[in-house]
Amino acid sequence: MQAYPYTITISSEKGGVGKTTLATNLAIYLKAMRDDLPVTIFSFDNHFTIDKMFELKKRGAESADVHALLMGEQSGKVVQAGQYGVGFIRSSTELGDIHERFKGPMTLTRILAESGISGIVIIDTRPDLNILTQNALYAADRVLIPVKDLPSLENCKNIFALFDQRGIDKKSLALIPCLIDSRIKFEGVFKDQKTLLRAIAVNRGYRCLDSYISKSPKVESLNTNPEGKIYPILTHARGTEVHGQFLEIARDILRSMDATKESRACLYHTWLLEKEAHKKESYLARLEGLAERCLICGALLEDKPEDRSFYFETSDRSARGFLHGKCVSSMLCSALYGLQEQDPTFDAARTVVADKASRAVSLLMPQVGNEACRLDYRQFSMTGEQLFQKNVEMPGFEAGEFNGLHDRLYLLLNEALAGFEGALRKESWLSIYPVNQNNPETVLHEESYKAIHRLQKRLGEAVKPTI
Ligand SMILES: Nc1ncnc2c1ncn2[C@@H]1O[C@H](COP(=O)(O)OP(=O)(O)O)[C@@H](O)[C@H]1O
Ligand SMILES: [Mg+2]
Ligand SMILES: [Zn+2]
Repeated sequence: MQAYPYTITISSEKGGVGKTTLATNLAIYLKAMRDDLPVTIFSFDNHFTIDKMFELKKRGAESADVHALLMGEQSGKVVQAGQYGVGFIRSSTELGDIHERFKGPMTLTRILAESGISGIVIIDTRPDLNILTQNALYAADRVLIPVKDLPSLENCKNIFALFDQRGIDKKSLALIPCLIDSRIKFEGVFKDQKTLLRAIAVNRGYRCLDSYISKSPKVESLNTNPEGKIYPILTHARGTEVHGQFLEIARDILRSMDATKESRACLYHTWLLEKEAHKKESYLARLEGLAERCLICGALLEDKPEDRSFYFETSDRSARGFLHGKCVSSMLCSALYGLQEQDPTFDAARTVVADKASRAVSLLMPQVGNEACRLDYRQFSMTGEQLFQKNVEMPGFEAGEFNGLHDRLYLLLNEALAGFEGALRKESWLSIYPVNQNNPETVLHEESYKAIHRLQKRLGEAVKPTI
């Protein structure tokens, strides 16, 4: 069974609201309360608080950092055993170039699902809503948004709006009043800071935790000392209110994790795998309908698999398959330039033809009239612009005569386009696409095959008879 993490993201566009304090201490409380639960923390910020706090004195070989995680490195490479039993991933100052890779909102969810990290993951974010923060929001089973005052509460609306825009369920989001000064009391219904903040939050439709975190001089002093260290609340501020509040928040998180059968990483990954399986199925189905032979030379492709440089498909999709590069270029060389294989210029001409054909789509549309048969031959760019057109006479085609010069062409047209009665299917044509001869089947992969069909459609429009 693959391990998937349960993810908690701490986020707020405001700095100084207690995100990092919450993230790091929550990790320590969770681990202390459930010893056998792996807890991993990392940050998208570059202030290295996490590194300072969790790094063990005697360091072994340094593990890779957050940048490596985002590049798809596995948990074994990136998660470093840290103090208090918490695993951490080293921070990175080089996340700028990563933004490019994070166009999609679910990239981090996939990375976490595939990373092999299990247990709980806590993500501390930067005070912004850049694409990395957004990814951390969507990846999270729980998002905790610290708010300490009205401006920070005001800012929350952007996070909620993001979820609305993407149509993502907002039930993972919850505000938590932080840095609450219990000495401040108001007259009236809203007797203190947290009651006021909670009332406004609820009024705006934001879920707010029952727990909150008090402002405590003791807690504030934990990162101001001569040793330049950052001490945890659990070990150095047990006498404070905040200790009890962290116990409560950690309990709440553990409860919701226990009640979650499948975390977001798990659900998303399962969905991805199903989508992949479906893609694979349709790919296999596409492979199945392929012609077994090269329709020009007649050789079984299984026997002569090398040089499968072109893929052809008829306009009605009833015939499809691979063709040998040499077969196609020889056919075009004879059909377009009237050259026979024994002609001295044949090889040189074939090289030129092959080069052109390898960069364009060839379209072959036979026109069988009452008198003579002709081939409407066209070349299109890979974006569908017509580059070249030529009409080629096809003497004897209908009578089934081969004349040496056009043999390959006649074979291909008959094999690909002949109908039930032997005559060509009306108004049908075929097109020939260059493919990567080292791995021709990739043309049938979802994206490339879609691209081919977009092109087929354009070609169909280009050759539609105008009445
Ligand atoms: N409960 C608390 N009581 C007092 N000071 C706190 C508390 N939580 C955090 N702080 C202090 O507030 C400042 C900002 O906290 P931090 O966690 O770095 O916020 P952020 O990550 O949102 O910028 C720090 O100096 C920190 O020591
Ligand atoms: Mg911070
Ligand atoms: Zn062939």
